[in-house]
Amino acid sequence: MSRCAYLLTVCALALGLVAGTNLTASATPRVPVFSPGAPGAGDPYFPDMGNGGYDVSHYDIRLAFDPKTKAISATTTILARATQNLSRFNLDFQGPLKISKLSVNGRDASYARSGAQELVITPRHGLWRGSLFRVSVTYAGVPRKIDDPALGLSGWVATKDGAVALNQPIGAATYYPVNDTPDDKATYTQTITVPTGLTVLANGEPGLTTHHGGRTTFRWNMRRPMASELAMLAIGSYNVTRGVTAGGLPNITAIGKSIDTVAGQGKVFNQTTARVIQWESSVYGRYPFDSTGGILADVGVHYALETQSRPVYDQRNSHVDGDLLAHELGHQWFGDSLTPVHWSDIWLNEGFATYSEWLYQEKFNGVPVAKTFADTYAHEDNWTGKVADPGRDAIFDDLVYNRGAMTLQALRQKIGDRAFFQVLRDWPTTHRYGNVSTQTFIRFVEHLTHRNLTPFFQTWLYKPGKPTL
Ligand code: TRP
Ligand code: ZN
Repeated sequence: MSRCAYLLTVCALALGLVAGTNLTASATPRVPVFSPGAPGAGDPYFPDMGNGGYDVSHYDIRLAFDPKTKAISATTTILARATQNLSRFNLDFQGPLKISKLSVNGRDASYARSGAQELVITPRHGLWRGSLFRVSVTYAGVPRKIDDPALGLSGWVATKDGAVALNQPIGAATYYPVNDTPDDKATYTQTITVPTGLTVLANGEPGLTTHHGGRTTFRWNMRRPMASELAMLAIGSYNVTRGVTAGGLPNITAIGKSIDTVAGQGKVFNQTTARVIQWESSVYGRYPFDSTGGILADVGVHYALETQSRPVYDQRNSHVDGDLLAHELGHQWFGDSLTPVHWSDIWLNEGFATYSEWLYQEKFNGVPVAKTFADTYAHEDNWTGKVADPGRDAIFDDLVYNRGAMTLQALRQKIGDRAFFQVLRDWPTTHRYGNVSTQTFIRFVEHLTHRNLTPFFQTWLYKPGKPTL
């Protein structure tokens, strides 16, 4: 190569490089920046719960349970969409379960566990904003339930003959990797394998049951968006009753065999559930899920829980009586189908569920709502605290339940029956499968009534002290 040609070549190369550099340089603002997703979803009460940077659309939980060792072995596959360009992201996963394999889009990804509940996942390549991705986690071990000093037992709870998973508010991550925030709802498939003879119940509708080598696999599908705090799983010896409501909705109830001692109890439980759902549908509008039911079991958590489509009633808390059913089934509209973004707004669940009890007492037991209100107002001794921001440790306090329901009755007095019952129907209908806040509720009622109700709600929801009537 001549010196001249050489120079030309160098020049050309240089020009090319410069041109190339220029191209790159001019494209620089568009070069994707991949960054980590947030390790929390921003709830002030539970800052570690949930994560940022993606939105889950489906959980596929495949889990086998061994009653002898109490251990599970599982693969959970999560389908999600990135909401930012992600270099890495977190899931919530806690306790002693050991991960043996983790992949993103079918390729092994690196991961680390940090803090109490963060599973930090770094895929081989950044994930583009808007793209769908699939995370698959294989793990095993004996799950450890949550025992929170203020909020009690939740998560995977071992029982005498199996286990029951109750996730509110922070239990889901004890048995599957999850974006554990109420405002990332997703559909679920739960495929659970147990020794033949045991029964498995979960949210939604049953799929095929198969038998193989002494083990039985049950499948349950929840086809409507569900918050992780409302996912449920019950393994044990159950008597199952199948029925339909008057509206034609499949109704699957179950009672733990060890506590199913009263003749006809299973039938009563099933029929009361059907009756309550039918009645609540006439007040709150179309039932939001594809089946209903309930599980009465000896769990030992001392509460009942509004798990989606199929509440769980702990025997140690509950008798199969109508107003408790009215409470948990009322939650299907208030709490499950519509769900607060933040835990501080839990009165939007508990106030309405408690009000469902009051309505039930009036309709089926002849106790007027006005009387229940008056008694509650007279006998409530705790008038401190804010209903719409009670504090982390007080989310299940009477303040939230009773004053929440009293707020609704006071609202009814203020806006009249017509507008009030329109609120009870239109509020869950408008926000079906969505997430809400107290502010959204106040604006909703003000819009519907054409009234300024801000001072009213200030008094009942935000100001400590006994409101005057
Ligand atoms: N949210 C449940 C209900 O009202 C009750 C509940 C769940 C609860 N976890 C709790 C009550 C912990 C006391 C303590 O249906
Ligand atoms: Zn409740």
